[in-house]
Amino acid sequence: MKEQQTSVWWQRADLCYQQQHLQFAGRPVADLARQFGTPAFVYSAQRVRDNILRVKNALLTIGGQQQHRLFYAMKANRFAPLLTYLKQSGLCGIDACSPSEVEHALGCGFSAKDISFTATSLSPQDFDALARYDGLLFNADSLHSIREWGRRKPGSEIGIRINPAAGVSRASNELLQYAGPLTTKFGVYQEQFPEAMAVAASHGLTISRIHFHTGCGYLTEQLPQWQAVLQKCLWFVEQVPTVQRVNIGGGLGVPHVASDQPLDLKKWAEIIKENFTDRHLAVDIEPGDYLAKDAGILLLGITFLEQKQQTHFIGVDGGFNIAPEPAYYKLPFQPVSLVEGASDKQSPFHVAGNINEALDVWYENILLPDMADQKYIALINAGAYSASMASNHCMRGHLREFLLLP
Ligand SMILES: Cc1ncc(COP(=O)(O)O)c(C=O)c1O
Repeated sequence: MKEQQTSVWWQRADLCYQQQHLQFAGRPVADLARQFGTPAFVYSAQRVRDNILRVKNALLTIGGQQQHRLFYAMKANRFAPLLTYLKQSGLCGIDACSPSEVEHALGCGFSAKDISFTATSLSPQDFDALARYDGLLFNADSLHSIREWGRRKPGSEIGIRINPAAGVSRASNELLQYAGPLTTKFGVYQEQFPEAMAVAASHGLTISRIHFHTGCGYLTEQLPQWQAVLQKCLWFVEQVPTVQRVNIGGGLGVPHVASDQPLDLKKWAEIIKENFTDRHLAVDIEPGDYLAKDAGILLLGITFLEQKQQTHFIGVDGGFNIAPEPAYYKLPFQPVSLVEGASDKQSPFHVAGNINEALDVWYENILLPDMADQKYIALINAGAYSASMASNHCMRGHLREFLLLP
């Protein structure tokens, strides 16, 4: 990521400098790093809760007779204390994408009826395991999946994940799109849909939900594409008289750089209302990123400072393997100083991890104050698709996770 950041655009009430020292969820970040050690992911339960409430309040504005539901996509962050906190809050169910995720959610206190399940490429063993859970809200993403579920659960209700051949993602990043001009493995396409309905009927399945998830990270700028996706989905809804709910997936994004405008949830909700509520459909939603990403920071220890040719490097004790999303999807992942320096005294640094791969640079040319006396650095937006995607590459997979309660 080459973009220079000049402002502290990311500051907010629970993540900001006070007397020049970075605070997160009401705690001095330097104290957290000293006590917890590094690398450490620190999550704010209150921030996740606030994010959920913001989405739920927006959903309330769309009206309709039936209750709209929110399922937290646990693939974003499955830290058990966080899941149990969410269960106890009563604010959401869970979106799971593998039998092991279902088992983990049950272990954290959720029951099967709280879990919406949507996955791809399921094996016979996967279907057998899932079929044991009574009440699980199963969404089939292929003809194969409808058939296999129908054989095990004839006469039950299902959702069908559809592929509208249109997608939406942060900055139109194709790596983050699950549907679009390129054929993807996700969901049932329009031309397959009559057969999907026939297969469901042959097993006595009732299709009560249409589900789609077409991409990740979209912001206000991408709302016109979002609107186009919803319109394409209406065709599927109109084919099935038994459909009562539409699951609009996740994909809601958070700002990553100063120029990103936060998602305007009011406009977002208006688009949903226009397309679905007026057709008496209830809406389900399963965001991960929007709820968890900006609720986490990654604390890293500084290992060295050195100029190599014209570049000033800051070495840190954690690499891309413990938070791979930025490297996979070319997403900016901003390091911030724990001590606020004067903006006219900042200079550019490359912040580099401890993995023997050339791509292991967290950020290029990030403007930071003098770091000579600093022991730690924090990466913001580390609450989602970070620890949950970590690997043990170079045997440097050891990390710690902490949940800060309100
Ligand atoms: C089916 C499905 N639902 C929801 C999500 C959550 O997406 P996000 O974290 O972007 O909101 C994903 C993410 O890949 C997904 O595949």
